[in-house]
Amino acid sequence: MKKVMLVFGTRPEAIKMCPLVNELKNRAGLRTVTVVTGQHREMLHPVLETFGVVPDHDLDIMRPRQTLFDITAAVLEKLPPVLEAEKPDLVLVHGDTTTTFASALACYYLDVPVGHVEAGLRTYNIHSPYPEEFNREAVGIVSRYNFAPTPTAADNLLREGKKPATIFVTGNTVIDAMRHTVREDYTHPELDWAGDGRLIFITAHRRENLGEPMHRMFRAIRRVLQEHPDCRAVYPIHMNPAVRKAAEEELAGCDQLHLIEPIEVFDCHNFEARCYLCLTDSGGIQEECPSYGKPVLVMRDTTERPEGVAAGTLRLVGTEEESIYRSFTELLEDPAAYEKMSRACNPYGDGRACERIADILEKGTYSPWEPRMPGSEPYLFDPII
Ligand code: UD1
Ligand code: UDP
Repeated sequence: MKKVMLVFGTRPEAIKMCPLVNELKNRAGLRTVTVVTGQHREMLHPVLETFGVVPDHDLDIMRPRQTLFDITAAVLEKLPPVLEAEKPDLVLVHGDTTTTFASALACYYLDVPVGHVEAGLRTYNIHSPYPEEFNREAVGIVSRYNFAPTPTAADNLLREGKKPATIFVTGNTVIDAMRHTVREDYTHPELDWAGDGRLIFITAHRRENLGEPMHRMFRAIRRVLQEHPDCRAVYPIHMNPAVRKAAEEELAGCDQLHLIEPIEVFDCHNFEARCYLCLTDSGGIQEECPSYGKPVLVMRDTTERPEGVAAGTLRLVGTEEESIYRSFTELLEDPAAYEKMSRACNPYGDGRACERIADILEKGTYSPWEPRMPGSEPYLFDPII
């Protein structure tokens, strides 16, 4: 029986890997071992609980204000003994974090085959997002199996010279995760507070945005909110102290905005489904919001998710104060511009990515995910509200 090990460490990896852990555990032909590096500590464990995943190993590496050196060195020190003890036939890593990169490197050093889930996303600029673009390109060098979420991602890998037989278009497992979270009868005190106002959902955390870009983003948001008294913004702040400092400096005292602790994934998906629009520099949220037809202003200079831009749900607005101010204002004041961005579509998957990956690993069978064209019927999620 093949032994498959999954290694992940941050909140978004957990959200996208837990449904896969559960799918693989249900397969009689596979043995599954789950390892968390603990790159995130507080933000990881609620996700594991939501999906009922109990890790077999927790490397517990997180340190306050950890550097890229800290994370890389800790994974390279603590993962090899687990690999040597468990002797997996294949290790699955996800996406582009430093956990992903360092885990894949450890596998390469020990000659353990790597499967890359969410393979092939690219900006081709290793400084944006930083260090994620480097991480995923580097994992792409060592990975033997590449589970590309979309045909665009698969094309990137083919252009880079990856052998076609190693590439599988599966859809993104985040859409599978959403099947477990979005509820029609959902309520939350923050939604009650927003009442009939237009709910603006905000997140920000990217390393390259820390410092002045983040201050500019927050100043633009504050100005627009003050000019639109019917808006209510909810911003669950990432636990990074540098993000918290900037948010508190620029946004404290704004009555229309609630700065709250990170929310559970169950809450996050339900907030997204009910918001008027979202401002974010997150990767995962760019995949989730299109399902609900919620416009996303992406506060970054690049995106590795062009499918949502092509479908019209995402707009890249950079990190300059005036650019964010203009696009945010336009979406609030111009119904035609809002309407254009708020058509539900799902370019990222149909909720069956885990099943496809499990079939490939267990039975060697593969039926690729083929997205419908932008503007056609969404797969699973009509906007709830
Ligand atoms: C990491 C990933 C990024 C991913 C993001 C998702 C890297 C280099 N970055 O960035 O790709 O988009 O996760 O959120 O892999 N902290 C806590 N508790 C937690 C989590 C974080 O206190 O549960 C604080 C700690 O002080 C930690 C800091 O946040 O040192 C930064 O965490 P880190 O994982 O290094 O970076 P992220 O910005 O979260
Ligand atoms: N998320 C969450 N709680 C929050 C903010 C985000 O559960 O308070 C979820 C969100 O739904 C998405 C993922 O976390 O699935 C995105 O994580 P993040 O933005 O931290 O990382 P990225 O996707 O940019 O790597």
